[in-house]
Amino acid sequence: MQRVFSGIQPTGVPQLGNYLGAIRNWVTLQNDHDCVFCLVDMHALTVWQDPAALREQTLGQTACLLAAGIDPTRHILYNQSAVSAHARLGWLFNCVVRLGWLNRMTQFKDKAGKDRENHSAGLYVYPSLMAADIHAFHATRVPVGDDQRQHLELANDIGQKFNHDYGVDFFPVIEPLIPPGAARIMSLRDGTKKMSKSDPSAQSRIDMTDTPDEIALKIRRAKTDPEPLPSEEAGLAGRPEARNLVAIYAAMSDETSAQVLARFGGEGFGPFKKALAEVLVAKLGPVADETRRLLRDPGHLQAILCDGASRAEAICEPIVTEAERLVGF
Ligand code: ADP
Ligand code: NA
Repeated sequence: MQRVFSGIQPTGVPQLGNYLGAIRNWVTLQNDHDCVFCLVDMHALTVWQDPAALREQTLGQTACLLAAGIDPTRHILYNQSAVSAHARLGWLFNCVVRLGWLNRMTQFKDKAGKDRENHSAGLYVYPSLMAADIHAFHATRVPVGDDQRQHLELANDIGQKFNHDYGVDFFPVIEPLIPPGAARIMSLRDGTKKMSKSDPSAQSRIDMTDTPDEIALKIRRAKTDPEPLPSEEAGLAGRPEARNLVAIYAAMSDETSAQVLARFGGEGFGPFKKALAEVLVAKLGPVADETRRLLRDPGHLQAILCDGASRAEAICEPIVTEAERLVGF
């Protein structure tokens, strides 16, 4: 079986983009892969986090993943900082990656904006640590959203340069598993920005723990344009907000955008938004309830993470120790 590695930052609760771009896919991959799922708290730290909140969100995120269907007995679920191999391989990779490569990363440019000088060095070398996360497990398949495509290419460049520099064939080539369809879910307030946990506006996203009322309100207030919905996909051109809502409906109901438009096209957004809220509530409601139930027993969640960390370590410790030997440590 191929080994899958994937990570999610424990900053806030997962949002709909995480669910459709990553988590839902993770649940399915469990059927025919060996999966390692990591709460990447070291990545979260690239932007200042309140210490108590970071600890709390790590448990919240764990609860949410379990509620969504991650199985920690057949697969591995742990937090990154509990396994020192990430930091050690991350350093080796910082010495392999070229500044020119990092300078091309669009996520850093997006996150840092014009105020580049004032961001942490960690945010800048984030893709190098991400490469280490994956390569530490010799994982070959990485399910991520479309927003991570460039980082995965860099992870391959780093792995291949390491192999070349040390004359070995040690790190395998990684293949991204990007779900078709809802590859990138956009903000509900601005159809040109991706939906993200780190967006300061809570109205911009659906959180996986939102109540039915919150979901209905956010969808009702989601930005749209005054035109009715088109009957065909071509009519979504230049209408990013409409395109995004249709894509969300399609992904949540396992239909194509064309099928959704065949049903709702020609009408205003009112009835469509009502139906969209219903689909979201039906799918996310049970996950939110189960998350709340699991959060009543933090000790149980901690025990799952602790067990996951020791099983993760058993896999990556020998790999990273060998990488250290290869460089001359
Ligand atoms: P966030 O930007 O919400 O903090 P993370 O960086 O923790 O998300 O990403 C976790 C996973 O969710 C990654 O696989 C990422 O590709 C996916 N993801 C995040 N946002 C989106 C989105 N808007 N659409 C699709 N996938 C997404
Ligand atoms: Na992100």
